[in-house]
Amino acid sequence: MVYVNSNQISTTKPIKITFVIVVLIVCFVFGFRLDPGFPQVRISLNRSYSSDIQSKQQIIHSFPPVYNSTHLWSMRFVDENYFRLARLLPCQIVEYIGGPKIDKIDSCNYSSTNEYSIENTLQAQKWLYQHQHPMNCTNRKFAIIQNFAWSGFGATIHQIAWAFGMALAENRIAIYETPGYWFYGDCSVSTPDCVFLPITNCSIPSKPYSNQTIHISARMNQWPNPIHPPIFENRTFNWYRAQLLFYLMRYKSETLTYVQNTIAQYFQPPLIDLHHPYIAVYVRRSDKVKYKEMCQAYTLKQYFDLFDFDVRQANVTRVYINSEDDQIFNEFIQINKQKQGYYKLLSVNATRNIVFASFNRMTKQQRGKIALEFLTDLFIEANADLHVGTLTSNWCRLVDGMRLALGKTIPYYTPENRYLMNTRRRR
Ligand SMILES: *[C@@H]1O[C@H](CO)[C@@H](O)[C@H](O)[C@H]1NC(C)=O
Ligand SMILES: *[C@@H]1O[C@H](CO)[C@@H](O)[C@H](O)[C@H]1NC(C)=O
Ligand SMILES: *[C@@H]1O[C@H](CO)[C@@H](O)[C@H](O)[C@H]1NC(C)=O
Ligand SMILES: *[C@@H]1O[C@H](CO)[C@@H](O)[C@H](O)[C@H]1NC(C)=O
Ligand SMILES: *[C@@H]1O[C@H](CO)[C@@H](O)[C@H](O)[C@H]1NC(C)=O
Ligand SMILES: *[C@@H]1O[C@H](CO)[C@@H](O)[C@H](O)[C@H]1NC(C)=O
Ligand SMILES: *[C@@H]1O[C@H](CO)[C@@H](O)[C@H](O)[C@H]1NC(C)=O
Ligand SMILES: *[C@@H]1O[C@H](CO)[C@@H](O)[C@H](O)[C@H]1NC(C)=O
Ligand SMILES: *[C@@H]1O[C@H](CO)[C@@H](O)[C@H](O)[C@H]1NC(C)=O
Repeated sequence: MVYVNSNQISTTKPIKITFVIVVLIVCFVFGFRLDPGFPQVRISLNRSYSSDIQSKQQIIHSFPPVYNSTHLWSMRFVDENYFRLARLLPCQIVEYIGGPKIDKIDSCNYSSTNEYSIENTLQAQKWLYQHQHPMNCTNRKFAIIQNFAWSGFGATIHQIAWAFGMALAENRIAIYETPGYWFYGDCSVSTPDCVFLPITNCSIPSKPYSNQTIHISARMNQWPNPIHPPIFENRTFNWYRAQLLFYLMRYKSETLTYVQNTIAQYFQPPLIDLHHPYIAVYVRRSDKVKYKEMCQAYTLKQYFDLFDFDVRQANVTRVYINSEDDQIFNEFIQINKQKQGYYKLLSVNATRNIVFASFNRMTKQQRGKIALEFLTDLFIEANADLHVGTLTSNWCRLVDGMRLALGKTIPYYTPENRYLMNTRRRR
């Protein structure tokens, strides 16, 4: 098959990737032991070529000036530059499995009816915001979210998204019980509202009428049969889940300020927007490998081999690297020597070698700082044009959800060809 880019240069390239993603999440987590009955899926996915040349011409031009409206998030959606870059890469069709249905994404389908369009995200986010912020909270029904998972940041968020989805399925407003047991912040309510914009502006009714409130535990294992609100009945689970994550993780201004200051400290020039295009690599190792959720640790070179050809096609030279393993930066130096210094490194200084067990032993204040470091990393990764990592990691899957909600359909580069349906690690 032939891929024709906008400059009419033809290239052919063999099918090469196995790729998939887990849609379903997470198990309730306690400690570090793996459940021996852990379901594993071996999948091979096709990286193939879209024959749809027509759609490459259809580019979404407009971007609504919505960044600063309350219900939308602080991250940039795709724009012309993103699509220009996408058109320099081979088309791929990837299939996300693990949900109720396979979700097939054609990276070269830029049609505005594409599920991962800005329009769809805006519609979903507006709907979610309005549902959670009614004009009058009296007489509304609520689902009180309690019991956050005792697990990694990514895993806890995925499970809150599940609880949120359960609330919406019953047409209830999701609300956090306070004080909660949220681990990843340093504030008195101890819920995700410590770092994100409030999930709702209602409060828990003091004298609920019968059935007005129910409790949902956010540390249940999974979401086997998700029910979408009628307005999203035709959307894939993968899309819906990404929207829920996106809503839950709207950074509040203090968080955003921290993130931007950190970027200003380590990036030159000091704004993320001035570093496009860049590729973000997250290398998950340590406990994920030790406890066999990942079948192996991959060398940084294995990751680079996945995208080196493609990024050169598109003249992408900047690479953001993060890992809980600080050895990664030495590996980068070696690789870049072999590549004659082609890559320019972006990184931030953060506390490394933290895994859930060590996090657990920290003070609340220390954990609050680490949470902000995580969110700095998430911000930089979600803003990236291209993404590399392992989707057995809850953290990487969080990044993947964000980027899909932002309209980024260039497939995630990953060395893995297998997935765990449930994961429980810190990141
Ligand atoms: C992958 O491609 C092969 C050969 O082109 C085809 O036989 C197979 O059905 C494809 N698998 C999927 C999941 O589309
Ligand atoms: C919101 O953003 C738009 C464009 O980015 C800007 O013109 C406007 O002044 C901003 N409004 C507020 C309230 O900050
Ligand atoms: C692009 O995606 C839309 C929505 O999923 C679909 O209706 C359309 O047929 C796709 N176009 C092509 C050429 O595959
Ligand atoms: C919640 O927000 C909505 C939308 O901004 C607003 O109309 C409503 O009055 C607010 N409710 C409360 C209790 O503040
Ligand atoms: C909300 O609705 C209740 C009952 O429907 C009403 O008594 C109350 O005045 C309303 N509150 C506001 C702020 O409109
Ligand atoms: C209470 O709500 C649940 C779902 O939230 C529903 O299944 C049940 O029938 C309701 N019970 C009453 C008495 O309304
Ligand atoms: C979902 O698809 C069905 C069948 O195409 C259609 O009748 C229905 O209106 C769609 N629902 C929404 C909310 O768009
Ligand atoms: C990449 O850079 C080279 C050298 O600067 C230039 O000739 C080429 O046109 C660029 N390619 C793209 C796709 O921008
Ligand atoms: C990076 O962080 C470490 C420990 O967190 C600290 O010792 C070091 O001074 C920092 N380096 C810079 C350049 O900020």
